[in-house]
Amino acid sequence: MKTKTPTDLRSHRWFGKPDLRSFGHRARTKQAGFSAEDYTGKPVIAILNTWSDANSCHAHFRTRAEEVKRGVWQAGGFPLEMPVLSVGETYMKPTTMLYRNLLAMETEEILRCNPIDGAVLMGGCDKTVPALVMGATSMNIPSIFLPAGPMLRGNWHGNILGSGSDVWKYWAEKRAGKLDDCAWNEMEDGIARSFGTCMTMGTASTMAAAVEAMGLTLPGASTIPAVDANHPRLAEACGRRIVEMVWEDLKPRDILTKDALENGVTAAMALGGSTNAIVHLIAMAGRAGVPLTLDRFDELSRRTPLVGNLRPSGKFLMEDFFYAGGMRALLAHIRDLLHVDAITVSGRTLAENIEGAAIYNPEVILPRDKPLNKEGGVAVLRGNLAPDGAVIKHAAMEPRLLQHAGPAVVFRDYNDLEHRIDDPALPVTADSVLVLQNAGPLGGPGMPEWGMLPIPKKLLEQGVRDMVRLSDARMSGTSYGACVLHVAPESFVGGPLAFVRDGDIIELDVPARRLSLRVTDDEMARRRAAWKAPQIAHPRGWVALYAKHVTQADKGCDFDFLEGTAPVPEPEIH
Ligand code: FES
Repeated sequence: MKTKTPTDLRSHRWFGKPDLRSFGHRARTKQAGFSAEDYTGKPVIAILNTWSDANSCHAHFRTRAEEVKRGVWQAGGFPLEMPVLSVGETYMKPTTMLYRNLLAMETEEILRCNPIDGAVLMGGCDKTVPALVMGATSMNIPSIFLPAGPMLRGNWHGNILGSGSDVWKYWAEKRAGKLDDCAWNEMEDGIARSFGTCMTMGTASTMAAAVEAMGLTLPGASTIPAVDANHPRLAEACGRRIVEMVWEDLKPRDILTKDALENGVTAAMALGGSTNAIVHLIAMAGRAGVPLTLDRFDELSRRTPLVGNLRPSGKFLMEDFFYAGGMRALLAHIRDLLHVDAITVSGRTLAENIEGAAIYNPEVILPRDKPLNKEGGVAVLRGNLAPDGAVIKHAAMEPRLLQHAGPAVVFRDYNDLEHRIDDPALPVTADSVLVLQNAGPLGGPGMPEWGMLPIPKKLLEQGVRDMVRLSDARMSGTSYGACVLHVAPESFVGGPLAFVRDGDIIELDVPARRLSLRVTDDEMARRRAAWKAPQIAHPRGWVALYAKHVTQADKGCDFDFLEGTAPVPEPEIH
């Protein structure tokens, strides 16, 4: 249903007035070769494109942007493609997480300062998803998300390879002396066979699934492989639909309600999704003005069966998931755990979007009474070592470690870890707990994905493949193992993790959701008094701004001044 007229459009302020400024805007649009018929009275649609030569996951985005444009033209809109920061996982150091908020700010401001009525958000590679959604939610103009789609399955000698997960697995085998250089080099040619995002249930797949469950994509969008012909047709459909959304005035904050966010969490848990989703969903909720806490995550996780049999928790990959029915089938399968009345970008409810969805392979989307795990993939831990919480992906660890106590082997930062981890003299056994300090939001900085600490070589050679590891870092969604992550407050700001010493006994109890350090309060107070706060090594530039404003992991690592829904004035047109 149409609620807006051409003179109600935001872009009308730029184009529709009989004044000097509008003359300039119209003349310069004509300079680009467009006629008045192309844009007069039409919704202006920004296509925010995170394409870059430095982001191979988005290598198809130039073509996809053209396909989105086709849809916009079909529906009577005026498309403008706008490049934004690509935030590609592969090359950016120390971590893309340091730049998620930069893309979020850029998204918000590029939409605000231009004559934009609606936006197509083209993202996929991990942080691009939350960043684009955070920015569009803050700007709150009609927006639709176009996921990049997963890449094809990897292949090596007929073995299926999954992004990340199988890299970690075979690297451990190589370090244990069980895989030669030749085999390792051959894998390099087979692990990433097409454009598109990591095809395990890593962060990209988790975030795309969550964003679909929250109603920000068209139905089924998050599982279509990037190379499938359905994907360009999806791009075109996004272009058509965003024009309608502008006329309907359907905005992100109409969609991103508490119910929608809980749907996102539940879907991520049912898929054994990435721990990174916790940080991102909390940040997205903060932009929508919806409270979402770690404890609510844990409640939702406990009641959600892990039915997505996908690596790293399970066996299959995104391509298999697509053939098995994809996200619509998964959502229909857990329908009773979702708020299906939530409205979505399609203009219909989630219930309407998943109507008639079927599972075509019950080995990939498992029966409800035979899940991989009775509860969701992620647990939230608390205790004297993590007063503000920590997380663990317990679905992807060796069950024998779910309750474990062992002596700490402490590394003060990543360089220290790299230097000593394979030292034959390192006093470590399979029962030890590896601890990494100074890897959090400020310590990293950027909370890098260092949380899957490598198993010491001498233990790998003994056949050890999992042990308890603990840090204030994140880990890749493709990673696995008994890795306690996101410890808050982080060690860099004086969280208890900073005071752990070699030999201290650390106790992990996942069923009881507990993480404890067996050191007396008095001793901890003594260590705290002797502690000297480290300084951020960036006196100027982006990291200096970041360090001043970033929040801790349990708060989503957004900037304090970007949270909330306080209205920001529209720019004056002078
Ligand atoms: Fe881009 Fe994994 S590196 S999605």
